[in-house]
Amino acid sequence: MCGIIGYTGSESAVPIIIEGLKKLEYRGYDSAGIAVYGRDGINVIKRKGRLAELERHVSGISVNYSSGIGHTRWATHGEPSDINSHPHAGSRNEIAVVHNGIIENYKQLKEQLEKKGISFISETDSEVIAQLAEYYYDKYKGDIIETVIKVSNRLEGSYALGIICHDEPDKLVAIKKDNPLIIGEAAHGNFIASDIPAVLKHTNKIYYLEDKEIALLHKNQVEFFNIDKEPIKKTPETVTWSVESAEKGGEPHFMLKEIKEQPKILRETINSAGNDGENKIVIDNLDITRYNKIVITACGSAYNAGIAAKYVFERLCRFPCIETELASEFRYKDAVIDEKTLVILISQSGETADTIAAMREAKLKKSDTLAIVNVIGSTIAKESDYCVYTAAGPEIAVATTKAFSAQLAVLYILAVSFAVKLGKITSETERELMAEIAALPEKTAAILEKVDEIQKYASTCIGYKSIFFIGRNIDYAIAMEGSLKLKEISYIHSEAYAGGELKHGTISLIEDGTLVVAIANCERLYPKIISNAEQVISRGAKVVLIGKNCRFSNANCELFDLPECNELFSPSLSVIVLQLFSYYVAANKGLDIDKPRNLAKSVTVE
Ligand code: AGP
Ligand code: GLU
Repeated sequence: MCGIIGYTGSESAVPIIIEGLKKLEYRGYDSAGIAVYGRDGINVIKRKGRLAELERHVSGISVNYSSGIGHTRWATHGEPSDINSHPHAGSRNEIAVVHNGIIENYKQLKEQLEKKGISFISETDSEVIAQLAEYYYDKYKGDIIETVIKVSNRLEGSYALGIICHDEPDKLVAIKKDNPLIIGEAAHGNFIASDIPAVLKHTNKIYYLEDKEIALLHKNQVEFFNIDKEPIKKTPETVTWSVESAEKGGEPHFMLKEIKEQPKILRETINSAGNDGENKIVIDNLDITRYNKIVITACGSAYNAGIAAKYVFERLCRFPCIETELASEFRYKDAVIDEKTLVILISQSGETADTIAAMREAKLKKSDTLAIVNVIGSTIAKESDYCVYTAAGPEIAVATTKAFSAQLAVLYILAVSFAVKLGKITSETERELMAEIAALPEKTAAILEKVDEIQKYASTCIGYKSIFFIGRNIDYAIAMEGSLKLKEISYIHSEAYAGGELKHGTISLIEDGTLVVAIANCERLYPKIISNAEQVISRGAKVVLIGKNCRFSNANCELFDLPECNELFSPSLSVIVLQLFSYYVAANKGLDIDKPRNLAKSVTVE
């Protein structure tokens, strides 16, 4: 949530910051702003609405600024408005701040500062940071690091901060707690950013800031300090993501580009987890026989991947106790876990606040944590005991597609590896299953060739008020993902149900003009899901049936055939059809697919 960028260097800061914000807009897009230095002090320009609004207002601005900070907001405190947008400056306009996160004690701090005669102009929690910084800067005149330490010690909650100060025109200060912030070192200057794509064009030399570490950026150097103001040495990492991987590559939306990348990223993920590389080493080192319980926890789509995985783990490993839990619930439920529990966390961003909290809760209870993460160097990747990376590359569209597919692939490989270690499958079965997994990229590519067919069908579906997704067993997990995808980007009401559950209540919602998407990959259950289809058709619904060898003929039912596949790995195929279906429904409605209303890419607040 919310994108932060900052730059100090020899080039003109405004275009660099605006360009960086464009790469971060997926993180929040209700308003945006920049703060740069001018002869008359700090110059803050901010606007409600999309970044394009801000861009119009900064177009005439001088090219002489060589340092500044920028922000694209996802409001938590105070409606999206010009005043509530970031950067926030103190009353004397001496310090300006961009903030990602939530300051939980902002009311108390605000009251204390108001008693000292400081008046506030916005409704945000973030303004308190700028006011507090000015207050301390006055007290510790000339010492911006001391100021930042004092501010940080007073803040409760989560924050990634970029700070500029009128006395230090060539410097930027950054600090973080529980929200991501990276430092990029380029030949012409230095950057702070919420995420790597914002700086990729300039550098792939990245420092990951840890909680309560302070970065002091000069034009040609970066210094790091701990919270006791002692200098610390940090080693940069080289990021291998390419600039192109964060561009649309000629597609109308990132989402479509990312859907089409799936055969490639599946191949890469399977190679690094199944055949060679770091991931394989991590998986091989994990001794599953030490545990008597597995808990899979995540949010949103990553949680849906976890539900699918539970079926695979149960079937292959015959493990007695596998639970799936939403991270937002798990963190507060006082889970019954201990050192004999393996907690598996799934996250594209590695920065989802609820999933981070779930991981910390698990560690507190001495459970081992295994993370499946896409963003290298993210909080979950770093703090978990074991981390397997998905090789999806930067995912920009808010609605996840390729990262979800990569998560599934890693989970399948884990399940096979666990099953072998637990002695539940023979090496021959292992080989067969791994061959099935290795064939997934080709099969997904075959589905993508039928994109026109799906596009044509989706264009007939934009009028539906409600679309239900049903499936049984593992198909139910993927029905949940299909439904989430559709509601996220098309704003059509949608629900997912286990086929057998329809008759227990939901069927009362089925009427003329309802669409039911039925997923049918489980051969054993094919007759059951067909009965469900019959039941809803006879109550006025239209059905689209997605599966292999669908043999159902009915005037009210469309069929979409999938390639032959072991049912355990079939989610990887059905999900491609569901993603394309959602995409084209939304595209036909002319919606802003990459930035759906009210959402943001990484949910770093509770
Ligand atoms: C997916 O399309 C979502 N926008 C959302 O549900 C997402 O999967 C969830 O917020 C978890 O994010 P993470 O994978 O970055 O932890
Ligand atoms: N809490 C801050 C605000 O509402 C920052 C939100 C964010 O992280 O996007 O302005």
